[in-house]
Amino acid sequence: MTVRTVLKMGTPSLQEPSLPVAAFDTPELHMLIEDLFDTMHAYNGVGIAAPQIGVNLQVVIFGFEASPRYPDAKPVPQTILINPVITPLSDEEESGWEGCLSVPGLRGEVPRYTRIRYQGFDEHGHAIDRIAEGFHARVVQHECDHLWGVLYPQRIRDMTRFGFLDVLFPDLTDAPDD
Ligand code: NI
Repeated sequence: MTVRTVLKMGTPSLQEPSLPVAAFDTPELHMLIEDLFDTMHAYNGVGIAAPQIGVNLQVVIFGFEASPRYPDAKPVPQTILINPVITPLSDEEESGWEGCLSVPGLRGEVPRYTRIRYQGFDEHGHAIDRIAEGFHARVVQHECDHLWGVLYPQRIRDMTRFGFLDVLFPDLTDAPDD
């Protein structure tokens, strides 16, 4: 069990595109995924991307039953997604509040595609092909953005909708590090 340090916004490697995973089912890949889960759970995150722990490979994990950081969000299936491709299923977007373990203490309102198809592979190289909407679609778009070197503040269109979590959402007192 290794909880890794989460890199914060300003770290140059968070702005770099990540490389695709070339080999599945390797000890290195399994260890990376284990560290991602340990780190995500330690920080109460709903998702995390490998670049956030300093590994610029196209690996994200996400999913939760209930989240203290997003109490109104519906459950999202626990997923390991490697080498992802996202296809919006319509031009429709919706705005919603996002935080990020690499941007601690802040929340911003971000427009995301409402309905997407996402494809990729699990850690064994088995194909994943799903349709998602709402918060599930938002989480996938947020996590995959990390793989292209994009953090959510770059997606905010109305900067008056960006601020500190404890000011915007004072009731979320058990959201520990974010
Ligand atoms: Ni993030």
